Amino acid sequence: MESNFDFSQIDEILDRRGRTPQATIAILQDIQELYNYLPHEVFPYIAKALGIGDAKLYGVATFYKNFSLEPKGKCIIHCCDGTACHVRGSMPVLSAVRKELGLKDGQATTDDGRFTVETVACLGACGLAPVLTVDGEVHPNMTPEKVASLVADLKEKID
Ligand code: FES
Repeated sequence: MESNFDFSQIDEILDRRGRTPQATIAILQDIQELYNYLPHEVFPYIAKALGIGDAKLYGVATFYKNFSLEPKGKCIIHCCDGTACHVRGSMPVLSAVRKELGLKDGQATTDDGRFTVETVACLGACGLAPVLTVDGEVHPNMTPEKVASLVADLKEKID
């Protein structure tokens, strides 16, 4: 099947990291950084370049939680569910974020592609629990009420 996918940047990554199976994770990390996810078009291309099977490559990509096979939203919200945040109410905060964004069960990215919500383990700011981050910026001591105004602000800012 013909694809319009531009592989030139993938080639640059392969040249930089080396076309060996040992470089698989580093290559997938670079591709994810480039596109914010792992486009399905790259799998046969990378597998061939590294001399490994497609299934093995998918296996690596799906084993590590940090890799995403789905496009992510422009704005990434990470809700911490580490122990400190959990005991201080991270789940109601997460529910509020998802509700304000209209996410259905099992849905991580809004239909309009603006927001992705994910849970993460400890963000390293336990003293500020419960914490969430918006594109890496920490929002401390969150409550469902604070979430409502935060999400309203974000909806205005993110196109
Ligand atoms: S448990 Fe949430 S920041 Fe550490």
